[in-house]
Amino acid sequence: MPLRSILLATLLLTSCGSKGPQPGPSAPGSLREAAFPIGAAVNVNLLRSNAAYREVVTREYRSVTAENAMKFRSLHPDAATYTWTDADYLVQFARQNNARVHGHTLVWHNSLPAWVTNFQGDSAAWENLLKTHIQTVVGHFRGQVSSWDVVNEAIAEDGTLRPSVWRQHLGPDYVARAFQYAHQADPDAKLFYNDYGHEFGPTKRTAILNLVGSLKSRGIPIHGIGLQLHTNSNRADANLAAAITTAAQSGLLVHISELDVAMNPGKTAGLTWSSALAEAQKAKYQFIVQTYNALPAAQRFGLTTWNVTDADTWVRGDCSCPDWPLPFDDHYQRKPAYDGIVAGLK
Ligand code: XIL
Repeated sequence: MPLRSILLATLLLTSCGSKGPQPGPSAPGSLREAAFPIGAAVNVNLLRSNAAYREVVTREYRSVTAENAMKFRSLHPDAATYTWTDADYLVQFARQNNARVHGHTLVWHNSLPAWVTNFQGDSAAWENLLKTHIQTVVGHFRGQVSSWDVVNEAIAEDGTLRPSVWRQHLGPDYVARAFQYAHQADPDAKLFYNDYGHEFGPTKRTAILNLVGSLKSRGIPIHGIGLQLHTNSNRADANLAAAITTAAQSGLLVHISELDVAMNPGKTAGLTWSSALAEAQKAKYQFIVQTYNALPAAQRFGLTTWNVTDADTWVRGDCSCPDWPLPFDDHYQRKPAYDGIVAGLK
């Protein structure tokens, strides 16, 4: 065979070999190269309409979570209506870019439509509502969404079960049944209990670990713990480390599921960004990633930041203050925090 044909054949073999889907775009030095999946919570409207935003998500992340598009109110606004358009768009984007989709979230006390909060019915009717929602949603995305935050934020700050509509109408064991329903609808999906505040101190952390541990020992299909880790510059490294390492002691998968590092915890109205803040934030990101990276590889499900850039962070709306919690700035450029993540991966 002439040299030219051999070269051509080799090229063809390497570019369209029989190994299934082609790798997505992976810029050298992007977060896609990390040993575990790094992802972000994505705003579907921005993904559609903002090319710079989409470029960052495509280049850097191999996991995506819908910031809002898979919440109850978004997917199931009326009893008889499911709206899949935005969530399906994200799933299709992920498929094209060889990224994983983490589902967020099936059962939460927030983001409920009025028809649920106003729902009148006995406990059997409530049970049917919960089961139907979970199984319709998980069933719709079966094979495309590989993991779910089944229950989000069920534990209150004092370690008791939060008095949500679910707890009120279904009793405390609704958490276990939610996992069973999700597992029936997609036996291959990895199922997570997701919450915030593991780093606040032992009260809430212990309550969460006890809940998860008891589900596991009862044989309830739970596979992982999501640590939201909405954190800030004041949070001590020791508390962040305790959050991450105690979660791993459960033996389950650990997902840092909603990471951001707010730099204006005092909510000062006129605060401006500075290199000192940038360096402090870099150190926090590096510490968190380094601590997570030290967990057993089989338990590192991934690390997801909550939003992509400082321009689209939920923190500014939540605190009504200036803040810069993410690894990309208002102009979609990498910040020192990004270098902190990279350093933490080494
Ligand atoms: C937030 C979104 O970012 C906002 O856009 C929305 O208005 C409220 O919810 N914990 C969670 C996430 O589990 O779903 C929340 O997302 C942030 C806190």
